[in-house]
Amino acid sequence: MDFINCYADSNRADAYATLEFANTYYLAYRDLPAILAKHVTGTRALDFGCGTGRSTRLLRKLGFDVTGVDVSEDMLRIARGIDPLGDYRLVPGDNFSELEVGTFDLVLSAFTFDNIPGALKVRIFRDLGRLLTPSGAIASIVSSPEIYTHEWASFTTKNFPENASARSGDVVRIIVTDHRDGRPVEDILWTDESYQDVYKEASLQAIQVLKPLAKGDEPYPWVNETKIPPWVIYVLRPVM
Ligand SMILES: C[S@@+](CC[C@H](N)C(=O)[O-])C[C@H]1O[C@@H](n2cnc3c(N)ncnc32)[C@H](O)[C@@H]1O
Repeated sequence: MDFINCYADSNRADAYATLEFANTYYLAYRDLPAILAKHVTGTRALDFGCGTGRSTRLLRKLGFDVTGVDVSEDMLRIARGIDPLGDYRLVPGDNFSELEVGTFDLVLSAFTFDNIPGALKVRIFRDLGRLLTPSGAIASIVSSPEIYTHEWASFTTKNFPENASARSGDVVRIIVTDHRDGRPVEDILWTDESYQDVYKEASLQAIQVLKPLAKGDEPYPWVNETKIPPWVIYVLRPVM
């Protein structure tokens, strides 16, 4: 399937760079410090699909020595502008040969796999697994299938009723309402069952799966976030 990464676009990158940790995005990151404290020892981290560096800068604040990689030069240009001392690298074709095997205590992937076609997912997860230290872990935040069929503080999908009949592997559309780029983002729907198949093929296993819900007392205009989890967070380790 020919799938275009919609983040290879300077207007989208400029808009994306204005997002921080509010609204629906708050729930993607809220539990990350506790998850990493529980599963990760060591401080060397790779932020796979770092985009404009929001997730990379968060890892740095949490004490990690972090390298961010992405396939979009438009996104990386902004990441480097915001954080000139940061280590941000282009990885064309997801070739990780510049990164040393067995040296990362953590690989974080925040929303990156939403944009990666199924067949490539296995190859990339396998390669990311090889970059881990023996006790290392991957934390992968992805969109839940339900995000594409409901309304949210940060997103709308009501103009895309066809999302409701999408199957795992199909392209789905969603608009980010938290920034000024109103063009739909095209993602690939991927169910939990399909992720579990990918992990098995990539010799990884999910040791924790979280589906964060809002409590209701946060200062954000929740729509469905107290009832339906918009994100799924997988903590993965290589199968020995
Ligand atoms: C939704 S953005 C998330 C950025 C960042 N992780 C954050 O939390 O703000 C997804 C990023 O994944 C990148 N991406 C998509 N496919 C990729 C691939 N095959 N390899 C590396 N990065 C990829 C996109 O270019 C984009 O910058």
